[in-house]
Amino acid sequence: ASTRRPFIAGNWKMNLDHLQGIALVQKLAWTLKDASFDPKAVEVAVFPPFTDLRSVQTLVDAERFGLAFGAQDLSPHDAGAYTGDVSGAFLKALSCTYVLIGHSERRQGHGETDEVVHAKVQAAVRHGLVPVICVGETEEELEQHGTSAVPVAQTKAALAGLPAGTPVVVAYEPVWAIGTGKVATPETAQEVCGAIRAAVAETLGPDDAAATRILYGGSVKSGNIAGFLRKGDVDGALVGGASLDPTEFAAIARFQD
Ligand code: G3P
Repeated sequence: ASTRRPFIAGNWKMNLDHLQGIALVQKLAWTLKDASFDPKAVEVAVFPPFTDLRSVQTLVDAERFGLAFGAQDLSPHDAGAYTGDVSGAFLKALSCTYVLIGHSERRQGHGETDEVVHAKVQAAVRHGLVPVICVGETEEELEQHGTSAVPVAQTKAALAGLPAGTPVVVAYEPVWAIGTGKVATPETAQEVCGAIRAAVAETLGPDDAAATRILYGGSVKSGNIAGFLRKGDVDGALVGGASLDPTEFAAIARFQD
């Protein structure tokens, strides 16, 4: 078993306004507290829409529950004439720990290239945020290149030039498993997460590869999470739909029960 602390992250995507977000975080905290959940054993984070971050921050501060949180994207720029962008500096000022970068819904939906992802990773690091770098192959890339080639190439492009010791998280999300109910097998997740870990070793170095949490994402539910976490190179999950139900998300976080 690795010394890496398991990490269960909930990506709300474009769901839950700031009032609904407060309600979910409150229910999640109470559910985990009732289950005498140990936040030191498993790290739990939520990724709300930008508009919810201030409200989630005030609730998390008040609850002192130890729930981490972050944004779903950030600008590659720091400040200035970038209408609609959100600076990593502002996310840090709201006590964000993490920021999702390169989610397939932004790579596919907003044409985000590896170059844009790399610039956003650099911006996150500049502002003291931990990037959660999302990588994963589409159905056609799977057929053309096999399981690991694309996620490995995306990982290397995102991490290029970063100094050893830069804290990062990588989330492997096969595009064909996102929101489809078609979940990858734990064996496939292990194969790709192992290849991603080797790519982290090549870019940041072996110590970073050993320390970096690598997550699986794509139709994760409380009924399938345990199989992934039994694999040595899978350190957690990036959960979409199931994170919108506090009871289900708490059950995923308590996968060790
Ligand atoms: O970022 C996590 C997301 O892409 C996975 O979505 O709904 O398949 O858990 P879902």
